[in-house]
Amino acid sequence: MIMEDSCKYSCATATETLEWIRDIIHFIKPYSFFWQSHVVNFFTDRLWEAVDEEWIECLRTESVECLTLIPSGFVHGHWPASLKNFISTASSLAFPREQADLKKLFPDIPVASLNNVITQGMNQKKRHEIEALAAVVSSVAKDVKTNTVIDLGAGQGYLSQVLCFEYQLSVVAIDASSHHGKITHARAERIKKHYDAKMRKSSLGGKGVMIPKTVTSRVLSSDMLKTLFDSKDINANCLSHSSNDTCPILLTGLHACGDLSVTMLRTFLESEEVQAVVSIGCCYNLLSEEEKGKDDDVLCGYPISKGVKSTGLYLGRNSRDLACQSADRWKDMEKDASLHNFELHAFRAAFQVVLSRYFPKTLTGSPTIGRQGKTLRRQQQNSKINCCGAETGLDTHEFPCKPNSIFEKAENVDRCSLFEKFSRSGMHRLNLNQMQNIDFAGIWKEFESFAELIGPYWSLRAALGPVLETLILLDRLLFLQEQGNHIEVFMLPIFNPKISPRNVGIIAKKI
Ligand SMILES: C[S@@+](CC[C@H](N)C(=O)[O-])C[C@H]1O[C@@H](n2cnc3c(N)ncnc32)[C@H](O)[C@@H]1O
Repeated sequence: MIMEDSCKYSCATATETLEWIRDIIHFIKPYSFFWQSHVVNFFTDRLWEAVDEEWIECLRTESVECLTLIPSGFVHGHWPASLKNFISTASSLAFPREQADLKKLFPDIPVASLNNVITQGMNQKKRHEIEALAAVVSSVAKDVKTNTVIDLGAGQGYLSQVLCFEYQLSVVAIDASSHHGKITHARAERIKKHYDAKMRKSSLGGKGVMIPKTVTSRVLSSDMLKTLFDSKDINANCLSHSSNDTCPILLTGLHACGDLSVTMLRTFLESEEVQAVVSIGCCYNLLSEEEKGKDDDVLCGYPISKGVKSTGLYLGRNSRDLACQSADRWKDMEKDASLHNFELHAFRAAFQVVLSRYFPKTLTGSPTIGRQGKTLRRQQQNSKINCCGAETGLDTHEFPCKPNSIFEKAENVDRCSLFEKFSRSGMHRLNLNQMQNIDFAGIWKEFESFAELIGPYWSLRAALGPVLETLILLDRLLFLQEQGNHIEVFMLPIFNPKISPRNVGIIAKKI
């Protein structure tokens, strides 16, 4: 009953899913220069030279607002046909993200509007996610006749607590972090007081409400997770033992990172107890990936389906990073923030030139310089009023003043010294010797004229993000479909993508 309406999203057979996967691979293969690249190498590898010159010429004069809409499928009529085709094909191959009508799909479950006690500490994004996901999980649990839920990668237990207190499910919250476990437990005890009082006031009375059981464990395989099912923690929490004395379980995880989401799917297949799974993944960059030519039997996070494995397509870390890019986030970014992002990418790419020329050994370890971009942005935002030149100190080299260009040469914008500052801070973070003879100004001047190509390049590359994420999700869908007809599975955009862009759930049950 749930499944019929969800056909709108993906009710494809394994054959149709594989066809979609092949279409994606056919489309992305010629553009491997985009998805295999890393923007930090923009200058060192002269990345723009791989892109059709006509595309670059056309986009270098486009406004930043247009560029940031490209990942959402936006095209201008006057753009070259091949460019329009690239953007619209990318858009059409990506899984649709608009939030599903949950009330229509799950009519029997009221989507609880959460009270202020249980939502304490949740930000707007978390509240939205928990409200929607808890309703879905509770509906699927009812469908497969279980009251026992395992929340894997439970974090601070927000989902577990709502499932327990609002939907009266017995929940075990598993997380690798003991700190999270303690917070979850303490928070649950506080919330329990509120629900106990409510119960006392009602005519129900009783012994008081249960709280989620917290388990600290770094789950690294389905075997490990299955071992936990046998533990008394889970069995004692089981409200609905089946006739053969197993405890039917629904396995869920909200943004269970990297391989953890895949472990959930494997456990669903391997364990007799697990009757359903509702999984929302994230952090594809953390997925382990089977490398070409390596042992087929090693269990990796990607690819997991026979179908994708048979294509021999290796994504690599850069593409999995790219799969985390959200078109909705790009679309909603304010103009200043977009300009600033492009500018930071230019600094970071020029810093890579510094590293390659003066500290070549550091490049073997793919150095990351962390959040310094954000620090710089904060400094810049604090003195944003200086844009267009009020001379008030070090931070006057701010956002470009002309609205649509990142690197207009406003006279008083001293990007050379800002670049030196950026680089010295990066060197400090990498514990590099602060040599005095580095020609920062020379390096910046050498590449400055190409910096304006970063916006067009990044926007085109980001258009492939949703397609790559779709490929990773379809691999998971296909993996379950390949098991045969006893499994019903579909993908559903559960959250509003503007609030929570990683919004696609994989929902499966045994029938
Ligand atoms: C992105 S957070 C999501 C937390 C929570 N589900 C939420 O949405 O609020 C991922 C959580 O998974 C946990 N985690 C990551 N790898 C894990 C593993 N292998 N086993 C158990 N927990 C893990 C982390 O400690 C973290 O709390």
